[in-house]
Amino acid sequence: MIPVAPPTEENLSLAARALAQGGLVSFPTETVYGLGANALDPMALARIFEAKRRPFFDPLIVHIAHRSSLEILCASAPTRRGHTLPGGEGGTGYSDPRAEKLMDRFWPGPLTLVFPKSGAVPDLATSGLPTVAVRMPAHPVALELIRRAGFPVAAPSANPFGRLSPTTAGHVRDQFREGIELILDGGPCSVGVESTILSLAGETPVLLRAGGLAREEIEALIGPVADAASFQARPQSPGQLPGHYAPRTRLRLLRGSGSADLSGPASGAARIGYLGFRSVPADGGFAAAEILSASGDMREAAANLFACLHRLDRLELDLILAESLPEKGLGLAIMDRLGKAETGSARDP
Ligand code: TXA
Ligand code: MG
Repeated sequence: MIPVAPPTEENLSLAARALAQGGLVSFPTETVYGLGANALDPMALARIFEAKRRPFFDPLIVHIAHRSSLEILCASAPTRRGHTLPGGEGGTGYSDPRAEKLMDRFWPGPLTLVFPKSGAVPDLATSGLPTVAVRMPAHPVALELIRRAGFPVAAPSANPFGRLSPTTAGHVRDQFREGIELILDGGPCSVGVESTILSLAGETPVLLRAGGLAREEIEALIGPVADAASFQARPQSPGQLPGHYAPRTRLRLLRGSGSADLSGPASGAARIGYLGFRSVPADGGFAAAEILSASGDMREAAANLFACLHRLDRLELDLILAESLPEKGLGLAIMDRLGKAETGSARDP
């Protein structure tokens, strides 16, 4: 059993040391729990792929606690105008006003930015891409761990590849048997869906993954962003793959007018679970049900999403029916995860 420990001084030091020695540590962020390794150590990075059974074509997000770490990670650091970087040439003189605005407003927080990468970032972290995804998480335990480690920490969500993301320490413990030194327990994640990923590597900012920061908030600050789908045919971000975030139980997303026609699928002795946005239909005859937010609060719904799915998934149901949410604000990220859960769960045996 992998040890789960509260984020005391002692355990944070232990965790930082484990990372420095090339080990893996799971830690809380405000979005989901991460599975961290030293981002500059290819051997440590390889352990992430091994533990998650993650394909090498899926690049990692690098977590930092200070903006100055961008100087190590990025080809030309998007720093404050006029600020001179140490080391003279190479890093100096470049400034991306979009990045500055976004970082000023949303970091630390659930926004990952993709920049041209420096030579210091191992290819394994970026799957050979010329870009690196960076984020500064808003969770105090994550920030303290990265500070103590003293290097950037690469961390995907702490779940086996393609499976439900973890929003509690228990979710992590239940999905892994070995390969992780320690799980730091920082309680349930407050945001509950992964960070929004925005590429600033080209002229036009591109939304690579809807997530915990609403697209509308980004556009209000820097203007329109392009959709990854309309921008290129091939997904750059495996979070864009259609079968990600899947429960073991088959899930069907109720599209259109929603819950009116529910009696149909509840045929025979099938045990059907229901994931409702604000409520559960009274006469559905469901074996189990979860509600994302009784008050219809999108933030609360996002924070509850994966925990509700984990609970339903443990019940050996024949089918989970999920209600659609309005695709506005965080609703976009929630519907994206549910749509992928539907595709991924349909494909599994
Ligand atoms: O909220 C989050 O972002 C969480 C927490 C732990 O920080 N992390 C997370 O990591 O969701 P992961 O590995 O589950 O998803 C990372 C996504 C992948 O879909 C990956 O393809 C994309 O980020 N990504 C990483 N580097 C990229 C790059 N250079 N270009 C495009 N996409 C990239
Ligand atoms: Mg993930």
